Amino acid sequence: MNITPTRITVIGTGYLGATHAACMAELGFEVIGLDIDPVKIATLNAGTVPFYEPGLNELVGRHVESGQLRFTTDSAEAARFGQVHFIGVGTPQQPGRLAADMSYVEAAIDNMAPHLSDGDIVVGKSTVPVGTAARMQHRLNARLPAGARVDLVWNPEFLREGFAVEDTLRPDRIVLGTSNQRSIAILKHVYAQPIAQGSALLVTDRQTAELVKTAANAFLATKISFINAMAELCEAADADVADLADAIGHDARIGRRFLNAGVGFGGGCLPKDIRAFRARAGELGLEDTLSFLTDIDRINTRRRQRVIDLAEQALGGRVSGRRVAVLGLAFKPDSDDLRDSPALDVARQLHRRGADVRAYDPMATEMAAIRHPGLDYRYSLTDAIRAAELVLVLTEWNEFVRMDPVAMGELADQAIIIDARNCLDADAWKQAGWNYAGLGRQHPVYEDPQLVHVPDTIAELTGDLELVEK
Ligand code: UDX
Repeated sequence: MNITPTRITVIGTGYLGATHAACMAELGFEVIGLDIDPVKIATLNAGTVPFYEPGLNELVGRHVESGQLRFTTDSAEAARFGQVHFIGVGTPQQPGRLAADMSYVEAAIDNMAPHLSDGDIVVGKSTVPVGTAARMQHRLNARLPAGARVDLVWNPEFLREGFAVEDTLRPDRIVLGTSNQRSIAILKHVYAQPIAQGSALLVTDRQTAELVKTAANAFLATKISFINAMAELCEAADADVADLADAIGHDARIGRRFLNAGVGFGGGCLPKDIRAFRARAGELGLEDTLSFLTDIDRINTRRRQRVIDLAEQALGGRVSGRRVAVLGLAFKPDSDDLRDSPALDVARQLHRRGADVRAYDPMATEMAAIRHPGLDYRYSLTDAIRAAELVLVLTEWNEFVRMDPVAMGELADQAIIIDARNCLDADAWKQAGWNYAGLGRQHPVYEDPQLVHVPDTIAELTGDLELVEK
């Protein structure tokens, strides 16, 4: 094989794989995407993406139509087609354990290996425990056709859901873990366009490349939990975490991004990646080294409980039988991903406590209704808020950020709102008569003073914070 491949295989067609396949087609390559799920493959071959990711549907549709991109369940066909084979399968948390489930990565290697050709390269993109690439190279070598040599490179993916296309076509950095000069040359060709447009290229060994991804996600999770710990302090000291984040964020060494306090992080990456990272450190005999990630995880899940506690306080101590509008189910805006979503978790816990939860998300309602029947799902914002006794904002979709507090006040039965993402204009909501509570901000003042600690200084100022009964 020369170093200018034109055909690419992408194994796994989830958020990562489907996006990578479509973006490789966009970069001019012929691409086959492989998955074990025939329904997903049929949907993709019809030019439609089975999940919501801005811009991806259009990209897949266009390249499927032109014939440059297709999808299959046949691993032999896919392995024979490509010269560069990207692995983008999931590495979910193992049930009941911290460690990641590597069976999909192993299956991808096993199924592909016998059909690969000498000189092909396999490029791992999935998030894996350090040491996986070396292990997978042995596994691959043991299954290759006689005489074939195939290099396995690690090339972690940093895409954010909601920005997946942009992050894949114009990543801030491209990390290649290999010492094989030919593989480096091939991947420089594959990524020639983003590199020419300014993406940084870093070449390192495979284990460092694996660690780059887990370290990046652990750092991001730590940053979020740090500000959420500050939110706990702010709540106790009657300070304001949003002002605090703005002020410390001006220090370029700290930076303002990923310092939004709220109901915490979720999704298919951060929570399971910090757990798997800890588990891997333990396997390496470094039990203490990443033990702080346990606290990061605990701080994060405490925020969900805090929202539930606030909801109970706001409703006089019990949520049972009370009408609660839940705005947001996805783990973040511009995504319909419900994996480890704080919003869905809070909604379900309130439902379990007997609340009459009316849940709405601009993109994830249908999926949530299929996966978690039992909640009362609403298909518009107004339907969710109508007659509510409490409104919870759990995902900062633009549709919620832009809500008109006056109009919403006319729909709700009680003007009490908990902004669990600190995404609303608190003053505008208070002026419209709402009892507004953010997280890590001024103590909310509810009807029954027994239910919430109200510092004297605040109690004196409660004129515009009193609960508004309608
Ligand atoms: C993350 C990483 O950002 C990405 O680089 C990696 O490839 C995959 O994992 P993603 O899971 O798409 O991406 O979401 P991200 O934007 O990182 O947000 C993760 C969670 O943190 C969301 O639930 C979000 O709401 C929350 N978050 C983020 C906060 O609570 N506060 C913040 O300031 C930022």
